[in-house]
Amino acid sequence: MNFPKFPPLDFDLEKPAYRALAVSLISTVAFFVYKSNRRASRLKAIQATNANAVSTYFAPSASKSNVTVPVAIFLGGTAGIGRGMAEAFARYTNGNAHIIILGRNEANAKAIISTFPKPTVHGARHEFVQCDATLMAECERVLQDLRARLPRINYLVISPMLVKTFGEEKTTEGKEPKLVLMYYARFKFIKELTGALEKAKEQGEEAKVYIVGGAGLGKSIDWDDLGFRKKGYSFLKIRAQFPLYMTVILQEFAARSPSLTFIDSYPGPVRSALGDNLRWMVARFLYKVLFSATFPFSYSESGEYMLHAMLTTAKTPGVWNVGMYGSTLPISKIYQASEKERKILWEHSVEETSIQ
Ligand SMILES: NC(=O)c1ccc[n+]([C@@H]2O[C@H](COP(=O)([O-])OP(=O)(O)OC[C@H]3O[C@@H](n4cnc5c(N)ncnc54)[C@H](OP(=O)(O)O)[C@@H]3O)[C@@H](O)[C@H]2O)c1
Repeated sequence: MNFPKFPPLDFDLEKPAYRALAVSLISTVAFFVYKSNRRASRLKAIQATNANAVSTYFAPSASKSNVTVPVAIFLGGTAGIGRGMAEAFARYTNGNAHIIILGRNEANAKAIISTFPKPTVHGARHEFVQCDATLMAECERVLQDLRARLPRINYLVISPMLVKTFGEEKTTEGKEPKLVLMYYARFKFIKELTGALEKAKEQGEEAKVYIVGGAGLGKSIDWDDLGFRKKGYSFLKIRAQFPLYMTVILQEFAARSPSLTFIDSYPGPVRSALGDNLRWMVARFLYKVLFSATFPFSYSESGEYMLHAMLTTAKTPGVWNVGMYGSTLPISKIYQASEKERKILWEHSVEETSIQ
């Protein structure tokens, strides 16, 4: 069999085209190495700050007569960025915290909890609470249980999301599950755990709500069609509007609970489980390839940055908006809602999340 003959490779650096190619290859590699090193040293610094922040808040000291273990809830802590935050929190507290992971996947939760350092102080423990947050009745059941047994909560971290398809779906309660996970369940958890967060604050402790979502994203809200009930659903509408729902409602929460800290974050491109549930195999595969090849952060690295934002960046009560490294976003990127807009969204959210 005769194979076609290719001309011999003539990589002559004397030729300008080859020289340009070599220079651009070398600069790309150098840039990549520089960026990786810079990120590695930034991560190291953030890890040190996180360790320090946790020991400042919770380690026994002469000025604190009775040290209480921090109580932290992670809704969406069984995977992805929520998992990264829960794992980092457990590590820095040496397991001496009451950590509650909420989600659907018990096996994942148990595997994660088994890696936490074992608690050595009274009151510290790690548990999983099953919760399908797409269902309001299920949220209600779990929230009643949490309120009944947790007199105080220090950190409420909320990050659940599930994308099976970009089209419209319906839960058994007739709601669109992506909208519920992105916004309505989050609203309900914050609203109904505010009392326990305020209790922590009254005792001089940290009390913070942390949202992993799309801070600084979103274009505008169609105030005539909240929840897309009248004009219909589309995934593009979710992208354009739902991040702003959270921006606006956190401003309302802060007005109602001025002692608390509310943080909305945009984690940037993170290699997480987000593409794992897509219904079509090809889409799942493409997502995986895209995640692995182009998304710079692992879920645990992102978890460190997000924990940094929660523990250190957001120092005072009010609303904070942070980006992928846990630093504040420019104020110009954040929509400032009027009192009237906040009130309209509050009423809509209460109506959508109430159990009939
Ligand atoms: N990854 C990124 O690049 C990226 C970028 C920008 C914004 N974000 C946002 O960041 C947030 C977290 O994303 P991620 O990447 O960490 O996602 P992820 O890896 O897919 O994790 C999602 C979490 O949500 C939980 N969850 C899914 N359905 C649930 C349900 N019905 N009830 C309760 N929990 C449920 C999952 O646990 P179970 O399976 O156990 O229920 C899991 O713990 C999302 O809001 C996402 O939109 C992510």
